[in-house]
Amino acid sequence: MRDSIDPNPSLDLRSDTVTRPTPQMYERIASAPLGDDGLDGDPTAVELETVAAEILGKAAALYVPSATMANLLAILAQAQRQELVLAEAASHIYMAERGAAALTGTFYQGIAGTLGAMDLDAVQEALQPSGAKLRVGVVCLETSHNNAGGTVPPLAYMQAVQEMAQAAGASVHLDGARLMNAAVALGVGPAGIAAFADTVSVCLSKGLSAPMGAVLAGSRETIGRCRQLRKMLGGNQRQVGIAAAAGIVAITTMVDRLAEDHVSAHWLACGIGEIEGLSANDPQTNIVQVDVGASGADARAWEQALRERGVLVRPWGRYRLRCVTHRHVGPDDIDFGLRAFRSASEHFAAAALAAR
Ligand SMILES: Cc1ncc(COP(=O)(O)O)c(C=O)c1O
Repeated sequence: MRDSIDPNPSLDLRSDTVTRPTPQMYERIASAPLGDDGLDGDPTAVELETVAAEILGKAAALYVPSATMANLLAILAQAQRQELVLAEAASHIYMAERGAAALTGTFYQGIAGTLGAMDLDAVQEALQPSGAKLRVGVVCLETSHNNAGGTVPPLAYMQAVQEMAQAAGASVHLDGARLMNAAVALGVGPAGIAAFADTVSVCLSKGLSAPMGAVLAGSRETIGRCRQLRKMLGGNQRQVGIAAAAGIVAITTMVDRLAEDHVSAHWLACGIGEIEGLSANDPQTNIVQVDVGASGADARAWEQALRERGVLVRPWGRYRLRCVTHRHVGPDDIDFGLRAFRSASEHFAAAALAAR
């Protein structure tokens, strides 16, 4: 559904981060009890942390400005300098966050994977101590998996990774920026997924619609350490309950409706699959990857053509687009989006004919 206060007339499929706070979030923000999170605590942030820990089945949680910081803290707290961080080679931690090695002193090793799940033999091999090989400090998991197209790796796979890591004395961190999408897709509670990791990060400002923030959950000891490290990174905020209030609404009331985003993604992918020159993944959650390779135009040309037709998407490789469904995308918007895709396809087909 388009937001009545949205000044942008186009359909924005670039990310679920474009979602606006709900009226209930604004209400909660206005009445949030506040304190100083850097001194004796902000009661609303404490409430969010308590609720998040409970939902994720962990002893403690920490509110942080972003999922990136949550992932960084998990690695800083659980890996020593000169240890290895294993992550699936297309994961967000490996592709977009491994520059953090400059801060953590760790080395990131990408493990080849399929649909977001690392090859288990390769994980076992990397964990195996041998000679001067560096020790693995943290093994990272990601669900839903962004670059694999919102895939949800099976729980049995996560359990296998956890058992291997435990046997090797390594910690497991789950990048659950979109953990709630995975939980909805699997039909299990978030704690049932987080159980396969020592620490788990959850973004509140993607499909859950909070304006900012993420939570990191884990043992009391690890989260206590992360609280100190957060200060070191400049992540301590003051009356942070202003933001945490929206986070409470996000994590307690906005999860079940993610199923609607998954249905929207399904219809978008089905419609795109019927258009000449295009194919799409069969989305498990809210991410549709569109292969434009057979259309005669590349992803940048498609982005431009769709933009001219009122639809915003993101190039995700030379011949791939990423479209993400979210709360402001309803059935009419999917129809609108598909008309734009069809029109752009006709445009490229006509251009190809004219060039002959
Ligand atoms: C899987 C995953 N992890 C972490 C992040 C980082 O989130 P943020 O940009 O909110 O820090 C993203 C952002 O897209 C993501 O997709």
